[in-house]
Amino acid sequence: MTTSLDETRVAAFGEQLVGAYVGGMVALMIDLASRTGLLDALATGPGTSEELAARAGLAERYVRECLGSLVTAGVVEYDAGTRQYTLPAEHAVLLTGPGSMNMAPISRFVTLLATHVPGVAEVFRTGGGVPYEAYRPDFTNVMDGVSRGVMDGQLLDGILPLTGELPARLTEGVRAVEIGCGTGHALNLMARAYPRSSFTGYDLAGDAIDQARAEAAEWGLTNVSFEVLDVARLPGEPPSTAVFAFDAIHDQADPAGVLSRVRAALEPGGWFVMVDIKAASALEDNVGNPMAPWLYAVSTLHCMTVSLAQGGAGLGTVWGEQLARRMLDEAGFVDVAVHEVPDDPFNSVYVARTPR
Ligand SMILES: C[S@@+](CC[C@H](N)C(=O)[O-])C[C@H]1O[C@@H](n2cnc3c(N)ncnc32)[C@H](O)[C@@H]1O
Repeated sequence: MTTSLDETRVAAFGEQLVGAYVGGMVALMIDLASRTGLLDALATGPGTSEELAARAGLAERYVRECLGSLVTAGVVEYDAGTRQYTLPAEHAVLLTGPGSMNMAPISRFVTLLATHVPGVAEVFRTGGGVPYEAYRPDFTNVMDGVSRGVMDGQLLDGILPLTGELPARLTEGVRAVEIGCGTGHALNLMARAYPRSSFTGYDLAGDAIDQARAEAAEWGLTNVSFEVLDVARLPGEPPSTAVFAFDAIHDQADPAGVLSRVRAALEPGGWFVMVDIKAASALEDNVGNPMAPWLYAVSTLHCMTVSLAQGGAGLGTVWGEQLARRMLDEAGFVDVAVHEVPDDPFNSVYVARTPR
């Protein structure tokens, strides 16, 4: 039996594939242009490749070739008459600057995770996972680059106000904890904003905790401390008024156990503020979500595999709102509310309380 092919569909899928491969390469060029300062140089105004190379202290031949990719991808504009390259202001706002709008650091996930394809291919066959340590120290820095701008732009004025009276309690002075704090920037921001409260951050990664402590020391903070700890052993005493988890539940080996620990570490009426990936739990409900292919890929190449490497649940990046709500409920939280994160298309804010 011969199967007749729909040639139009073949051609359309061919174009789709080329688009996917081109997108991957353009992401690498954005990473390169961002980390070398080429995008920052472009953001200060138009220039020829020679001028831009001089502005950023780079080798002109590389600048010109990389710009060839970015121009043909529609990221940068080129005037053949003047040989000048321009980063439109509307593009610069999404590719440069310190705030939550800058999406350039996200490209570094592509660069980093691509290097782990061979390792994941191994465990794809055998089961198990690639351990967190295999991703460090690069993961620590890539994650910091992605979350730092969002926290700078949104934590104090966008995320915390979603929790009701928690900012007022932090102003009065309470005890608060962050689990999976990474480089600790979010906790340092809160410690600086709420000097009467005391904050403790926990993470498995020694390199991340070193960076967290260094920033706290640089800022002269005396109300924040950081410890290397597996939060599966999060202490319940002394009880906290708030526990924060920013993108730190779905890659746990034992997410249900950690949620129970968080619940036990909170005082009655306490707050669990969890920023986690915005998605649905069922695959069919994520079809059409433009971020979904990215999320499942990040899960395969990082979040799920680091959990499986510890014999863990392998919840994955796309555990989704329905399962998250169920697990919060099973851990004993009440009044769970889910909000959008301003300027962050990837995440939701879950605000959960402990019973009074
Ligand atoms: C996706 S990163 C998020 C880091 C940081 N919260 C941020 O938003 O930049 C997850 C963090 O959780 C940490 N982590 C994972 N499992 C952990 C555990 N059982 N105990 C402590 N930290 C853990 C990882 O080392 C990593 O730093």
